[in-house]
Amino acid sequence: MFVPDLLKNKRILITGGGSGLGKTMARRCMELGATPIICSRREELLEETAAELAADTGGRIEWRRLDIRDPEAVESVVSSIWEDGPIDALINNAAGNFLARTETLSHRAVDAVINIVLHGSTYMTLACGKRWIDAGISGNVLSIITTYAWTGSAFVVPSAIAKAGVLAMTRSLAVEWGPKGIRLNAIAPGPFPTDGAWDRLVPNEKLATAWAERNPLGRVGDHKELANLAAYLLSDGSAYINGDAITIDGGEWLAGAGQFNFADILTDEEWDNIAGNKK
Ligand code: HXC
Repeated sequence: MFVPDLLKNKRILITGGGSGLGKTMARRCMELGATPIICSRREELLEETAAELAADTGGRIEWRRLDIRDPEAVESVVSSIWEDGPIDALINNAAGNFLARTETLSHRAVDAVINIVLHGSTYMTLACGKRWIDAGISGNVLSIITTYAWTGSAFVVPSAIAKAGVLAMTRSLAVEWGPKGIRLNAIAPGPFPTDGAWDRLVPNEKLATAWAERNPLGRVGDHKELANLAAYLLSDGSAYINGDAITIDGGEWLAGAGQFNFADILTDEEWDNIAGNKK
């Protein structure tokens, strides 16, 4: 789909890059000539992922252990990364989430999600942004949100609050930092099965099947589809896109919104009758 050197020589920092969508994006970056620097709390996983992706793609990859909830750790890790030169882009991908009735949540449960998604993404964005601004160079921030950042969603309320905050950060800083050559965008995925998310969010087959059935395209997303969108937004070809959130969900969220979207419950005979009544 893209020329093989689309992201050549770019250094791209990916939070939560050891597994799931972060890992798929890291792989795509390497296939297109970039060097991803993957971060996560789990050192063993990072080491494994880095070895696997290097062997599969023949590309370069770096990793750092980092808990993005800890602002001092963020500062020190980002500063150590910068010692080898500036990065070109940051992907705020790391997230935490679980399915729960909201009235059962403790304040620690609320913080567990918001500290990763909202605070962590903000700390990372600031740590990179101020370095780009100090050096007078351009930068690119891509945040992975969800479509419920704008609709909200029952049963994942801390995540909805936090993702809405990341969207607000994206739009706000796109305007504030645009004149400094830093652009910020978001990708709003629908259902893309990953072990991390699915273990916590899809407790049984009933929910898993519902995801595919209620989607206008009749299926969940393929990781490669999301990785290609990310590659485009990381590339210089998308340089004029700033402050947007691009949806990739097969039409899922719109299907829940249109007032007559459920009218496929009508039979052919009922449709014929409706057409007849019109004459
Ligand atoms: C209620 C829960 C809970 C659950 C944890 N808690 N899981 N409460 N229901 N299922 C509560 C705990 O009881 C505790 O409160 C508090 O949260 C902190 O729990 P810890 O296990 O100590 O937290 P921690 O180790 O920090 O784990 C963070 C986490 C975990 C968010 C809870 O799930 C995590 O690390 N996730 C990372 C990976 C992940 O979730 N990825 C999916 C992202 S998907 P008490 O009061 O008992 O001390 C995504 C997009 C979704 O975001 C889009 C889908 C379409």
